[in-house]
Amino acid sequence: MKLEIRDERKTGKAGRTDAFVTFATAPEKGDSFSFIPAEVREAARSGAPAEAGSEGSVYTVPLGAEGPADRLYVFGIGKKTELSPRKARGVVRMALKALARNGETSAILDLPFVLKRMSPAESRDFLLRSALLADYTFGRYKTSKEDPAHKLPLKLVRINAATGPWAGVDRAQTEHEAKEAGAVAEVARLVRDIGNTPSNDMTPREFADQARKHGKARGLTVTVLDKKAIAKERMGGVLAVNQGSVEEPRFVVLEYHGGRKGDRPVALVGKGITFDSGGISIKPADRMGDMKWDMMGAATVVGVLLAAADLELPVNLVGLMPLTENMPSGSAYKPGDVVRFRNGKTAEIDNTDAEGRVVLADALDYAAEWKPEIILDYATLTGAAVVALGLEAAIVYSDHDDLVEDLISAGERTDERLWRLPMWDDYKENIRSDWADFKNTGGRWGGSINAAMFLKEFVDPKTPWAHLDIAPTAYFERDHAGYPVGATAFGISMTLRWLRDRADSGAAASVPAKASKKKGSSKGSSSAKTSS
Ligand code: BES
Ligand code: MN
Ligand code: ZN
Repeated sequence: MKLEIRDERKTGKAGRTDAFVTFATAPEKGDSFSFIPAEVREAARSGAPAEAGSEGSVYTVPLGAEGPADRLYVFGIGKKTELSPRKARGVVRMALKALARNGETSAILDLPFVLKRMSPAESRDFLLRSALLADYTFGRYKTSKEDPAHKLPLKLVRINAATGPWAGVDRAQTEHEAKEAGAVAEVARLVRDIGNTPSNDMTPREFADQARKHGKARGLTVTVLDKKAIAKERMGGVLAVNQGSVEEPRFVVLEYHGGRKGDRPVALVGKGITFDSGGISIKPADRMGDMKWDMMGAATVVGVLLAAADLELPVNLVGLMPLTENMPSGSAYKPGDVVRFRNGKTAEIDNTDAEGRVVLADALDYAAEWKPEIILDYATLTGAAVVALGLEAAIVYSDHDDLVEDLISAGERTDERLWRLPMWDDYKENIRSDWADFKNTGGRWGGSINAAMFLKEFVDPKTPWAHLDIAPTAYFERDHAGYPVGATAFGISMTLRWLRDRADSGAAASVPAKASKKKGSSKGSSSAKTSS
């Protein structure tokens, strides 16, 4: 599907599309048709059935030979006062899917909504990305070309950028924004594809190859550590989780240099478990297949790095991704084992299914080599996070209040929402071990917090760090909140917003320029440590 900004100067055939999509609201006080542009408002009124505007309703009206489209579609969105971003995402997706089902191949799409919690500019960005992602499907393994995953008749959507959040914005600006939204949506599609690809194909090696390919294409510095190089870095956590698997681990480092030379980077760390069986502490069979998405933290990091390059953000970034399966076998790590991490600390493995924190421990420690100004990590870390928040927000942990505030704000303005839970020292006794420095579980209560407490042991307290437990929002078991079943690519837009906020406020520039070189020689060419 191609998305462009409608050009009013294109008249007659050149400007005409199959469909013109508009939205009517439930008649609270006043007009159901106030969102509908003047050029088609009379048509919308004339053809309106009694239920016009009610949520989920739709009717069509022929527009005649002189109209801007063959048919007018009027979708009902219910009460105007309740137009949240989440609802808008669903409405846009529902509308474009209905068009495709009806065999429409081109449409003008009118989206005059300034959304809750968002500025007009943020609303435009959100609506554009919602439209661009509305037709996302994952059809790679559907061999029949008749499958709905392949049948996408809608080829062209023209945004009628005239009213609502577009009022008063000039064409050049609108075009520029559409291009940027297009780049981010493209990356989100790639990230969803990577996540939705089953673990028999999306192995650590394949993930690394994808990261390398797409990173190189954008001029990122790509380093892939293979098992030997991981061992050389003494990443005992990554090796322990990997040792039950026949698939070799990988550790991917992506670097984007968009900021000033010498500016310390923001480090983004992502959990990359390409399949989490639980290991010897094996998971129940029910929905174990969902654990192909246990690499969405790492996929999010890839997405942010690629998009930052596409948008030419003025920041330096380093992305670090430990990649492995977590499998049971004769060689698997076992409950009771003690693992020694890269930083020399040890942990008793109480449950091999708490493997995310074990690989992240090494990655967080490794991140320090880049002397990052800030570290963020993304991980589908605990089922407890899903129990706590449901599917509507991810959990943010940090001891740096300003960082939490900035991240939450960015999430509110992209509808990738975060909610804070505490990381007080009071919880530390939960992960006390009789046999090692810590234990990798913390008992029955506060499961997501206990995981955060474990990670905290591997970050220098002087480095602002936030941990995002994205288990609630990284993927959905079925269509939800305007997202299709599967990987969501949640977190990319929030992070890009946060990075732009920082750049706009000059936060990055106010930091004294320090050398960002890390010691040792494992940084550098993409081939040095690679054996794939
Ligand atoms: N990958 C899972 C967490 C998860 C569960 C993500 C459900 C998404 C949906 C993680 O590795 C895990 O198994 N965590 C355990 C930790 C426990 C053994 C302390 C959990 O949450 O049950
Ligand atoms: Mn697990
Ligand atoms: Zn896991």
